[in-house]
Amino acid sequence: MFEPVKISPSILSADFLNLASEVADVEAAGADWLHVDVMDGHFVPNLTIGVPVEAQLARAAKAPLDVHLMISNPIDQLPWYLEAAPHMVTVHWESFDPAHPYDDAARCLELIHGAGALAGIALKPDTPTSVLEPLIASWDMVLVMSVFPGFSGQAFIPESVERVGQVAALARAAGCAPLIQVDGGINETTAGLVARAGADVLVAGNGVFKAPDRAAAVAAIRASATAAQR
Ligand code: DX5
Ligand code: ZN
Repeated sequence: MFEPVKISPSILSADFLNLASEVADVEAAGADWLHVDVMDGHFVPNLTIGVPVEAQLARAAKAPLDVHLMISNPIDQLPWYLEAAPHMVTVHWESFDPAHPYDDAARCLELIHGAGALAGIALKPDTPTSVLEPLIASWDMVLVMSVFPGFSGQAFIPESVERVGQVAALARAAGCAPLIQVDGGINETTAGLVARAGADVLVAGNGVFKAPDRAAAVAAIRASATAAQR
């Protein structure tokens, strides 16, 4: 069974000098969640926003916060990001210590669930989806990155469609049904491709914030994804 599609506009593409009105604007445009891209200048080359901005967004936003942590030391920093009581917090598989990634994953999961949030695990485009096999049943969401994390406005990587299908198959084999999120280069066209493969949460930065009519952009992404699910 497919979940109704959720659209999570990424505030990385918003006008940071007018964040409150930008948030209100995409909420009015139909955003289901608000995607918050946290980058530390180390795990990824870019540096974006951190805890103080997340805390203020949590107070200002009506939509649930969907926090995407692109940081090197999630175990140390998760408690800070969980303080704002976000709806969903996603950590990257590649940020775990390669010597014991499954232990780190378990610790992150414990921290996130301990704070009452939902837990997502993200994979970069070149990480094999098979790493998810032992853990997929415990997580609430898998984020399939459809660009290399670091910047908004990049082109969708076409192989991501097949990777979404692989994650959906892994979930079926494990008898679980995590949400499957896709992030990077999502627009009306790519939304349909990934939704057909099993995605149900679509992040869109430029695809919503830079659109001339944001409500129309959200509606078009939702319509294309919903039609593809059937
Ligand atoms: C990339 C971020 C994305 C990005 C999406 O590292 O995680 O959320 O901002 O932006 P678009 O939709 O413009 O590719
Ligand atoms: Zn993101």
